[in-house]
Amino acid sequence: MNIVLVGFMGTGKSAVGKLLAKKLDWQFIDVDQTIEQEVGMSISALFAQSGEPYFRDLETKAIQLVSLLEKAVISCGGGAVLRVENMEELERNGVVVCLTATPEKIYERIKHNTDRPLLAGKNPLPKIVELLKSREHYYKRCHITIDTTHLPVEEVVSLLLTEPLIASKIK
Ligand code: S3P
Repeated sequence: MNIVLVGFMGTGKSAVGKLLAKKLDWQFIDVDQTIEQEVGMSISALFAQSGEPYFRDLETKAIQLVSLLEKAVISCGGGAVLRVENMEELERNGVVVCLTATPEKIYERIKHNTDRPLLAGKNPLPKIVELLKSREHYYKRCHITIDTTHLPVEEVVSLLLTEPLIASKIK
């Protein structure tokens, strides 16, 4: 069984995933990092050089591979939910958790980060609002949703560990 974290950029997937994996003594896998390692460049460089559709194909391949793992906390990129085949793979052996946050909080968390090509413009807040809206429907598919806007990482992890769907499977 795996625990899969999805959700928009800046909702805390990496921070929560790392701490959760540590507490469970499971491996932590960041899907974007596995792609970066495979192609030998950053996500931004990959978008610039080969475009988003190519990145999405690599993302689907990476998800197929990591879904075969056991006892892994898997953090996916914010757009992983967009392809139904990705979700089907992840759900096969995983509890899928969606982390959410308000657009303002997301902006606050990502504003100093330069490796988010979809939010690279001068004024990312309207773009965040627009993308969130267009993805709302996809995020609804997840087994569990946690709003991280006002929660420290430790608290999100505690909530996850006591969530019945997860607690019953990690014993
Ligand atoms: C994306 C989110 C990013 C990364 C890529 C595309 C998206 O991951 O996969 O820039 O479409 O939301 P994070 O959610 O980890 O930032």
